[in-house]
Amino acid sequence: MGGRWEAERYARDAGFVAELARPLLDLLDPCPGERILDLGCGDGRLSAEIAARGALVVGVDNSPDMVRAARARGIDARLRDAAELPFEAEFDAVFSNAALHWMGARMDEVLAGVFRALVPGGRFVGEMGGFGNIAAIETAILAALERRGVDGRPHLPWTFPTATAWRERLSRHGFEVERAELIPRPTRLDAGIEAWLELFAPTLLGLVPQDGRAALVADIRRLLEPSLRDEAGVWWADYVRLRFVARRPAA
Ligand code: BEZ
Repeated sequence: MGGRWEAERYARDAGFVAELARPLLDLLDPCPGERILDLGCGDGRLSAEIAARGALVVGVDNSPDMVRAARARGIDARLRDAAELPFEAEFDAVFSNAALHWMGARMDEVLAGVFRALVPGGRFVGEMGGFGNIAAIETAILAALERRGVDGRPHLPWTFPTATAWRERLSRHGFEVERAELIPRPTRLDAGIEAWLELFAPTLLGLVPQDGRAALVADIRRLLEPSLRDEAGVWWADYVRLRFVARRPAA
């Protein structure tokens, strides 16, 4: 996650992220009057759905463009680094969809902040990329870079834990983990694989000079076509979700 998101482009090419989150919203089960923090709220689409169920929502995101877009939906969105949450026992629940996998470098600070932000007994309900997520996409990117003499591995911007590792991590931070499971969810990319790469992997594509970028994307596409493009020509991302519910113990 970074300050680079452009809300309009995200809504156009990655609208599926919010559309597919309905089961997670149901798992959160927001109640009227509850205070809920949406961590990595993006353009506020899901925050607005939570608010529509009667909860009082605060969103945080580190992208000014996303915060602007969320505010335009009427969300109390705050420009914040998720590793520097300022809240103390203020929220009945913390919710996060498709954001935590961008926070790997400072995950311990993020989780400590989430724990602090919850009231005793409050819940942390989320979904992120889990172990094996975008395995084909990642391998194709790394292979295409390697052909150009570039090692992309130190630059991978995401982290996809196993359910076991995530349980352990949450427990280390004091959470009681109610569930943590991997859910394979092939995800239709109506905008195609190139749009996905440009939107989500610009740091990796940027490892080659600008004049080599189109050829790099074409190479990645060629490598992925046999496994991620179906007989109707539709592209699918090999997503694996890590869905979890954890709780700050009641005092
Ligand atoms: C995901 O939602 O799993 C994801 C999206 C973009 C890049 C990496 C992972």
